[in-house]
Order: sequence, then structure tokens, then C-alpha cells
Amino acid sequence: MIDFENPNFIENPYPALAELRKQGRPVWHEPTKLFLAATYQDANAVLRNRSLGRIFKPKEPHETWDTFNWLHSDSLLDSEPPKHTRLRSLLVKAFNKNKIESLRPDVERLTQDLLDKIDIKLEQTGTFDVIGDFAEPLPVKVIAALLGFPDEDEHLLRPWSQAIVKMYEVNPSEQTQLEAQTASQEFADYVRHLMEERKQNPGTDLISDLAAVEEDGQKLNAQELIATCVLLLNAGHEASVNGFGNGFVALMQRDDQLQLLRNNPYELAATTVDEFIRFDAPLHLFERTATADVEIGGVTIKEGQKIASLLGSANRDETVFENPTEMDITRDPNPQIGFGAGIHFCIGAPLARMEMTTSLPALIEKYPNMKLAADPIRRPGFVLRGYESVIVSA
Ligand code: HEM
Repeated sequence: MIDFENPNFIENPYPALAELRKQGRPVWHEPTKLFLAATYQDANAVLRNRSLGRIFKPKEPHETWDTFNWLHSDSLLDSEPPKHTRLRSLLVKAFNKNKIESLRPDVERLTQDLLDKIDIKLEQTGTFDVIGDFAEPLPVKVIAALLGFPDEDEHLLRPWSQAIVKMYEVNPSEQTQLEAQTASQEFADYVRHLMEERKQNPGTDLISDLAAVEEDGQKLNAQELIATCVLLLNAGHEASVNGFGNGFVALMQRDDQLQLLRNNPYELAATTVDEFIRFDAPLHLFERTATADVEIGGVTIKEGQKIASLLGSANRDETVFENPTEMDITRDPNPQIGFGAGIHFCIGAPLARMEMTTSLPALIEKYPNMKLAADPIRRPGFVLRGYESVIVSA
């Protein structure tokens, strides 16, 4: 039986996930009271089946968890149609491929700024942290700029977001729960204040657009707006940091792939980024609740029961991917489902891809001799799986 909290499993979950796939159907996991869908076919079917919804279960007691609860139940990610359709349609324009592509020069500039700072750090210490100095600040700055989050308060984003997402792991501790409550309150208050200000003095940012938006004559209510902004600020960097870090470490451990990318950093950027997400997924597990009896892979999931789609496992399915345990940065086609599937498919996928296809080749080109200078330090947790720090020399 998989133990999602076991550090050995978190270190390398893939052998256990391969065993799970051998069962060929969703398997009941008693400790979490979840069916686990581990094959590509089943994990994909879970995300696409409309009788399996993202149904947020509010935490009790209500008074303690009030803000955390509505930050979820009123956000895009945790709503289902028709509310989901209404919220998503308001964001589609801001995140479409062309709009995102137009931001590439800004991301190139940001990348250069970070590389200049890394130069100074290298001179001083001979090493830098790929996570703290590069993979993390880039998407944080990009999503903050897109939403119009003030530069001077950017440092607040990551701690708030980290405190909230730790709640998605199996069995969060008492301390984690307290921190999530405090962060939810502070984050929501901050965004509420910002939104009020943007209503008075609109800018060209997404928070101003959302504050002003009128859809079918019906405005977003304040809670939905705040919840969706908080979601975007969190989702807009958490997975990107870990997706970059996971792929980067795997690349550093494979001379042939590293050499290939060094020789063609820009040409291979797009296939490399998708292979990063496939090979070592930053997001592993998403739950759904059956709103009617439904069959997945020959197993009946009864109304009210829960099933998890295991994305990282699906992306290693040997019936879909040739040599799935090998990293191949030229893999094409690559039908990985690390960005999800169905109506909740990641709205930020074009942004994440644009950021990574800009920043990764620039990093590799600037420091072709990068090497891991210490064992990368893992952050705890399976659902959002990645590294705390990855120290390299260059
Ligand atoms: C490597 C980076 C990323 C990965 C692997 C990733 C992955 C995912 C996945 C798997 C989902 C679907 C969750 C589900 O079905 O329950 C999702 C949804 C979402 N993602 Fe991302 N994401 C990434 C980056 C981003 C970025 C940069 C943004 C910024 C806007 C973003 C915003 C969202 C939002 C708002 C949703 C909810 C969509 C909905 O419910 O309709 N993500 N993401």
C-alpha cells in the first residue's frame, strides 16, 4: 500500500507507481479513502469525465476556516459549471497564446536581470541556487506583473502561497493548518484592498480588468474576484518553480541530454520543457468526487466517492510513451498530461511554456558548464513535488 507521506516514496515515487499501473484499473486506497487512477487512460478519463467534479469540501469549524474555505469554493479551480464556465471565460483572453507570446520580450528582460544577479553571486561564492535565484523569482515576477501586484510587496507572495498549498498534502500538521489560516486571511485582505484601489485608479493590469469586468451584465462578486486572483498568484508560480527544478536536476544528471541541449538550446527548448513536465511532474495528484455512479477502467465509482488522477504516473505509462523512464528532450509527439485535461486544463500552460522556453535556454547558454555542487534539497510533499534548493557551480 502506497504511503504518500513516506520520504522514500516522495524521493522516488516512480517504482511504486509502476506497480500500481500493473493492476490495470483504479485501486482503492484505504488510508486516504480514494480510488487511485494510475494508468494514462484512467487518469485522463478521470479529468475528462463530467460526472467527476472538483467538489471542494469546506473545512470545519467554519469560523476558523472561513477565509480559506471561500478562497477555494469561490475560485475558478474549485468550481464546476456553470460557475466555472463563467469565471474561466473572463480569463481566457488574458491567457491566450498570442497575448502570452506578446509578453516574451518582458520575460527575456527579466531573465537577463536574474542572470546579471547570478553573475555577482558566482563571483562572490562560486555557486548559486537554481531555485532561489532563478526558477522561483522569474514566474513570481511575471505573474505579479501580469496581475499588477506591487513590486515592493512581491516578497509576500511566495510565503503566503507556500503556506496555503501545504494544505493540499495528505494529513497536514497542526502548524501547517494554522499557517494556512493566517496566510489566507492576510492574502485575501491584501487583494481586497488592492482591488478597491484599482476600482478607483484602474491600470492596465489583470486585477484592474477583472475589477471592471461585466459578463452578461453580471459582475464578478468581490469574493470570486479575490479568490481567483489569489489562485492565479499561487498557481502562476508554484508548479512552474517545481517543474523547472525537477527537469533541471534530471538534466544535470544526464550528460547526453545536457550536451544535446547545450548544442541546441533554443531549437530544443519547446520539446525539453514538455519532457521536463512529463519526466518528473511537479503536480502529481488531483482529486475528483463522483456526482453520479460512474465507471472508470472497469471500476464503478459510486456517487460521493472520490478518485485521484495520478498525473506523474500517467506520464510514465509504458503503453503510451516509448522508454518512459528515460528522459528524451527531443520527444515528439509528447502527449503528457502534466497540465491536466478536460475543463480544468491549466489555463496558464501557454504562460508556463513561454516562461520556461525563454529562461531555460538563456541559462544553459550563459553557463554551459553548470554542475550540481551539492545534493539538491527536496521540499516535503508528493502532491506538489519538487526541490527547495538546487546549488550549482558554473
Ligand atoms: C509547469 C507549470 C504548471 C503546471 C504543471 C500546471 C498544472 C496544472 C494542472 C494539472 C491543472 C489542472 C488541475 C485539475 O485538473 O484539477 C492546472 C490548473 C490551473 N492552472 Fe496550472 N500549471 C502550471 C502553471 C500555471 C501558471 C503559470 C498559471 C498562471 C496563470 C496556472 C494557472 C492555473 C489555473 C488558474 C488553473 C485552474 C484552471 C481551471 O480550473 O479551469 N498554472 N494547472
